[in-house]
Amino acid sequence: MKPRVLIVDDDAQNVLLLGEKMRADNYEVSEARTGIEALAAVEKYRPDIILMDVMMPEMDGYETLRRLKSREETRYIPVVMLTGMGEIEDRVRGFEVGADDYILKPFSLREVSARVKSLLRMRALQTKLIDSEKMAALGGMVDGIAHEIRNPLTTIGGMARRMLDPDTTAKHAEYADRIIRSVERLEKMLQRIDEYKRILSSTLVAGSINRVIESTVRDAREFSMGKSIDFTTKLMPDPPDISIDSVNLKIALFNIVQNAIEAIEEKGEIVVETLPWSDQTFLIKITDDGVGIEGDQVRNIFSPFQTSKIEGAGLGLTISHRIVSDHGGDIRVESKPGVGTTVTVCMPPAVLSSGAGSEPPVPAT
Ligand SMILES: Nc1ncnc2c1ncn2[C@@H]1O[C@H](COP(=O)(O)OP(=O)(O)OP(=O)(O)O)[C@@H](O)[C@H]1O
Ligand SMILES: [Mg+2]
Repeated sequence: MKPRVLIVDDDAQNVLLLGEKMRADNYEVSEARTGIEALAAVEKYRPDIILMDVMMPEMDGYETLRRLKSREETRYIPVVMLTGMGEIEDRVRGFEVGADDYILKPFSLREVSARVKSLLRMRALQTKLIDSEKMAALGGMVDGIAHEIRNPLTTIGGMARRMLDPDTTAKHAEYADRIIRSVERLEKMLQRIDEYKRILSSTLVAGSINRVIESTVRDAREFSMGKSIDFTTKLMPDPPDISIDSVNLKIALFNIVQNAIEAIEEKGEIVVETLPWSDQTFLIKITDDGVGIEGDQVRNIFSPFQTSKIEGAGLGLTISHRIVSDHGGDIRVESKPGVGTTVTVCMPPAVLSSGAGSEPPVPAT
């Protein structure tokens, strides 16, 4: 997904120039001409960064900024103020209200471009930090709850299973059956939570990415029994070994492929490919032609317990994301409902680790 930039300026010429440059830099751009319009656009469009003029009719840039920074949902969006006023007081005022940076008019488009890039990079790091703090807090809480649930759940499941004896009436058998299905769902969730705890740290040693992918696809073929799915793998031949935790990376990829299988109803195709991206960096792409994902759902897809499945725990992609982040990589999801989904794992520049340790075998999932 391209980063989104909101440009707020009452001067049409400025909006045009900045918009062109931002689009050329491969951002998605939206525009607002007044502070009021900007507040509405932020609600609707959730930009990743805002470039905002100070002098505007109705509501000036400072007031707009103050309102953005006073709300939790918009407080963390970086705002660059575009100001024609070079006075120190004006700049100080902007920072006091919460501006993240300012640029003097007339501006150089190259400078704007560099500042936007640097603020987006900082923002991405900040988000990662906030996310990992949230995950740690949540992890502790979930762990506690899982521990408390386990014993009563075993009792409920055990008793419900005993109710299914030959003397049970049809009605009671149906009730017992429903209890058992709910218990099984909770048991699966607890299993997933255990899995999450196990992958909490990755130990990176030199390993073959192709072996991990091939082993994942082999297991996935077995898992998809009952559906008619064509698996295609297109792997770069003989890539150098890179620093990976083969066991964890396989769990990450398997969760992604498992979702692809689950997204296909009866018949379909899953393509797993590796592609060079930039110097020593490469992508693992997993594409399916399954049901696809609705737009607003993609945003929270890595958050725990986000699921659209009756039997799902909503932890698969949380686990994958965690593992790939521990490898210094990233995951992106693109999807079209009714057409299919592509999940792209971006692996970081290969830290070639000759002698960093030998690779353990890739176990079956
Ligand atoms: N390839 C895909 N096609 C369609 N939807 C997907 C795909 N991958 C993920 N999703 C959506 O994202 C949600 C979250 O996926 P995730 O793997 O985290 O959880 P889950 O599959 O629901 O449960 P779990 O993996 O814990 O059993 C899914 O419920 C599904 O709605
Ligand atoms: Mg899943």
